[in-house]
Amino acid sequence: MTGTSASTPKPPKGGASVGIPPRPVHFALPDDAPRYVYDDNATMTLFLAVLSGFFPPGERFFVESVRHYRDQVTDPVLKAQVAGFIGQEAIHAREHERLNDLLQTQGINTRVPELAVATALRLLEKLPPSQQLACTTFMEHFTALLGEQLLTDERFRSRAEPRMLQMWLWHAMEELEHKSVAYDVYELIGNRRRERILAFPLVATVMIPAIAFSWGYLIIKERAWRRPGDLARGAGILFGRRGFVTRILRKMPLFARRDFHPAKHDTRALEAEWQQKLFGNDGSMQHMLKARH
Ligand SMILES: [Fe+2]
Ligand SMILES: [Fe+2]
Repeated sequence: MTGTSASTPKPPKGGASVGIPPRPVHFALPDDAPRYVYDDNATMTLFLAVLSGFFPPGERFFVESVRHYRDQVTDPVLKAQVAGFIGQEAIHAREHERLNDLLQTQGINTRVPELAVATALRLLEKLPPSQQLACTTFMEHFTALLGEQLLTDERFRSRAEPRMLQMWLWHAMEELEHKSVAYDVYELIGNRRRERILAFPLVATVMIPAIAFSWGYLIIKERAWRRPGDLARGAGILFGRRGFVTRILRKMPLFARRDFHPAKHDTRALEAEWQQKLFGNDGSMQHMLKARH
């Protein structure tokens, strides 16, 4: 939502003033973590490596597609939200790059998903800017649902290496905080429903092969099939009837609704809960913010 500002005496400026603070976190990534940081499962761990590899190029694409229209944003609230969105995504990309570098040194080749997604995004970059922004709103819908699923699915979280989990929790929470920003900019430039619906097959056509190729490559390189039941178990956790990704995919069609808006799926209570857990007075990441002041 863009909000109104005509009567606001002091217009908002930065993302923090509108609830989208780019938090200057810097994760102490554990280099003594087990190789398979999710449930001692190689298949699942490599899926997370693919996701992490996708984030830096993906988030740069999101930012650029919004930045293209930044000059058209005159509302001070939306301007501040855009600033917060760009700031948050920049820090996400930086921290995931650090994680990817660590995985790379451990022999999990995150350059493969990075390259695969960069190739996929180069195809999307050939589309008109408004279609690119529509694709961003679709992918932001996905990342918001991903974040919501992680923050609500305690059972899923309980199987992850706790120190590695921290970064994913912070990222998930911030995805919810800024989930409406790209969409509100898209509304500003017209929000053509046909273009928005078209984002679905366009993104799927370039992203699904990129995921399948890089995940498959890492699984083969890791010889994951040699671990009894690893592939079946990892695939089940993600794509089983009550799997992590299955639950997200069920909510994806919300995006096609005529009256869709990310804020209509209200996650404010969940955001508040995790803002407190992570960055409240006794929050598990509060020390990272203090360290910077
Ligand atoms: Fe992000
Ligand atoms: Fe995002």
